[in-house]
Amino acid sequence: MQKPHIKLLNLVGARPQIIKASAISRAIRTSFSEEITEIFVHTGQHYDKEMSEVFFDELEIHKPDYNLGVGSAGHGKQTAMMITGIEEVLLKEKPDCVILYGDTNSTLAGSLAASKQHFPVIHIEAGLRSFNKTMPEELNRIISDHSSTLLFAPTNAAFKNLMNEGFRPENSPPYTINNPKIYLTGDIMYDNMLFFAGLAEKKKADILHQLELERDNFILVTIHRDTNTDDIIRLNHIFSTLKNLAEERTITLVMPLHPRTVISLKAKLSDLYNELCVCRYIKIIPPVSYLEMILLEKNSRMIVTDSGGVQKESHFFKRPSIVLRKETEWIELIFNGTSVLVDADPDQIRQQFLRLMDSHSELDYPRFYGDGKAAEFILNELLLLFDK
Ligand code: UD1
Ligand code: UDP
Repeated sequence: MQKPHIKLLNLVGARPQIIKASAISRAIRTSFSEEITEIFVHTGQHYDKEMSEVFFDELEIHKPDYNLGVGSAGHGKQTAMMITGIEEVLLKEKPDCVILYGDTNSTLAGSLAASKQHFPVIHIEAGLRSFNKTMPEELNRIISDHSSTLLFAPTNAAFKNLMNEGFRPENSPPYTINNPKIYLTGDIMYDNMLFFAGLAEKKKADILHQLELERDNFILVTIHRDTNTDDIIRLNHIFSTLKNLAEERTITLVMPLHPRTVISLKAKLSDLYNELCVCRYIKIIPPVSYLEMILLEKNSRMIVTDSGGVQKESHFFKRPSIVLRKETEWIELIFNGTSVLVDADPDQIRQQFLRLMDSHSELDYPRFYGDGKAAEFILNELLLLFDK
């Protein structure tokens, strides 16, 4: 029997999506190069070298076939420009399907552009919910899931969320937007961690030395969510409390900050920003590459973050995480007790920071995120969709 050959459009825009897409690109290269041709499209939502290009170089993904160069703008304008650009590429390339990742504005734009032109949407990281529709990401996820044909849920909780929204696991082929298929796959970021952790040791081991960090004796901090960066009270609570804790416990906090956080700190809290810059226990640095990041995570004592991806990676590396949010999509980590939600509340940040800093080795980190072969599973299922 002749094997199907499909043309797949891999769509990214924001930093974590480039990293996620590398797992699919790698699986195509290594296991499916005869069956799948990949067109790589970057919306340009992230564009600084350290937010975009660095990942293409480091994770060995070929340069985008199209970069729409959309850049930063308000939600409406940014999403509209993306939809326009993606639609043009779709009509020109006529792919068999479009792969989307996560919950950014690039995901939303991809799902609207593709579904309205009747290109099947494949959503990776389907079903995650915070149950807070004031988050832009929550709307992006719901709309993307409900425009998809194949939905790959990374966790049991995400799979259940999809069932609660009316998706039926027993649907039988042919799958379409009106008869979608849901799968429980595990997490492609776990695939990536397994693949890249060893490589990071070989290529980037110097990062600890460069930053004058001692293994297990520093705390990694990332902050970028709009709820934290755009609200001066929350921003102040978070950074003041962390600075005080670093000084009290004489422990280094290394902070690779997203550009939006630095922009906000400088504009809204310039005095505090200057104090952070001269504090001997705080190291504010530009965003780091993925290989550098996983080395920082692996060697940290604990992680403080509002990032979904970093929260999960803390678990991969068996490090507790303090999450500066009211809710999370990775709910299994909260039930497991290795991740705690503290919102931006100074008392809660303080209490959990002091508690978790010293309880590192007593915690248990079950394998919640699959077997490291999610990308292969996804591509196999995709081929079945087109195996007419
Ligand atoms: C986006 C996603 C968020 C994801 C994050 C990953 C949406 C709605 N949000 O948030 O879900 O967690 O990416 O990092 O899609 N900026 C730069 N250089 C860049 C990119 C951004 O300076 O290369 C600055 C600009 O001032 C911009 C701001 O960051 O206005 C926000 O960027 P944007 O892409 O709109 O959202 P993120 O906060 O990055
Ligand atoms: N990351 C990185 N460098 C950094 C910060 C994060 O490579 O300076 C990686 C991190 O390891 C994870 C992903 O980016 O794989 C998470 O992206 P981000 O925190 O921007 O977004 P979120 O996961 O919250 O959507």
